[in-house]
Amino acid sequence: MADHKTTVAPEASVEGEQTLPEQSPPSEGEQHPGSPRLPELQAAAAAHDNRQERDESNNSTHGASSSSVGLSIDSDDSDANSSLGDVAVASSSVSATSSVFEFVEKYGRTFHRYKEGKYYLPNDEQEQSRLDLQHSLASRLLEGKLYLAPIDRPSRVLDIGTGTGIWAIEFAEKHPESEELGTDLSPIQPGYVPPNCRFEIDDVEDDWVHSYKFDYIHGRYICPFLADVPKLLGMIYDNLNPGGHVEIMETLMLMKAIDDSLNGHPLQKWNTMMVEGIRKIGKDPLSAVHLKQWMGEAGFISVVEKKFSVPANPWAKGAEQKIRGMMMMNNLLEVAQGITTKIFTEVHGWSREEVDVFLVDIRDGLKDRHIHGYVPVLCVWGQKPAAL
Ligand SMILES: C[S@@+](CC[C@H](N)C(=O)[O-])C[C@H]1O[C@@H](n2cnc3c(N)ncnc32)[C@H](O)[C@@H]1O
Repeated sequence: MADHKTTVAPEASVEGEQTLPEQSPPSEGEQHPGSPRLPELQAAAAAHDNRQERDESNNSTHGASSSSVGLSIDSDDSDANSSLGDVAVASSSVSATSSVFEFVEKYGRTFHRYKEGKYYLPNDEQEQSRLDLQHSLASRLLEGKLYLAPIDRPSRVLDIGTGTGIWAIEFAEKHPESEELGTDLSPIQPGYVPPNCRFEIDDVEDDWVHSYKFDYIHGRYICPFLADVPKLLGMIYDNLNPGGHVEIMETLMLMKAIDDSLNGHPLQKWNTMMVEGIRKIGKDPLSAVHLKQWMGEAGFISVVEKKFSVPANPWAKGAEQKIRGMMMMNNLLEVAQGITTKIFTEVHGWSREEVDVFLVDIRDGLKDRHIHGYVPVLCVWGQKPAAL
């Protein structure tokens, strides 16, 4: 790797600014030899937390220059840690709790049965493990917080597209004063949950028939799977009490790079074809870039957008960035097989064999530290005006 350091500005976020992506989305893939097991990755991440300050002071002595996304290339790997490099991915396990809902099997994976075909990612244990990994990464980005909106002891909370329910369960544990409801197409939430937390199988795009309104509605990693996000924001608005808050956090299905290291790589083709393919099935994997504007148009006030840039693998300088990079790399490796097989065969008409061959290059690229890719993450929140 060249001996150069492109550094970044303040770590991630810029308020208010919206930028449309130029390149396309990274996806995620199958269980991958050489990538960390989730518990090991989380333990390694925790062990590194107390090294963050030292690392940041190292950064300042290296005299790195600034770039716009807050990431600098680690040209000497001085802060690499072996505990992050030699672990291997695995699955956690959260089983379906109801035999009423069976799953659809395809490509060696399982998918939701209720409203079959609506959601294009699997729902099996491998995917559930990936969702929990994404949760850990989101928690790191929010510095241990579950939310950024200025909520104050909300009585009723809704988590749409709750997945394994990990966010909803943690929220309920930390807010015993709140009643928490998580909804999803898949019954993949655990049976044992805090008494103030429950789950329902529901399509968030159907008309909402909740018997009460909420004080806080949260969604994470849901927009790329919806046909009409502005309509959803309208339903959220209508189902919030006056003064209530909405908050949506999204990983853009897109990989950018801080330099030209992504140019010409199969990852670019992967990104472009993934965005095109998902748009052909009527969803926009990049719709989250409009969230701030759409929240305003839906009637929300005090809308704030916070942006993060997460390294796509551990190429970036700094222990915290390396942990984030490892987490994102494993997230992408985990999701790649499922989403690529689905979109490239069903939308682009590729054969399974063509996809498998392509995925070899994609996995290699995702692990290549010479490719200085990063994935944008957004968190947007706003408030329904208080009653007059
Ligand atoms: C990428 S996962 C994110 C899960 C969870 N929010 C998290 O952050 O861990 C997206 C979830 O949205 C759910 N989903 C997708 N479309 C949905 C819909 N129309 N209604 C309800 N849930 C939906 C999927 O079943 C999946 O569990």
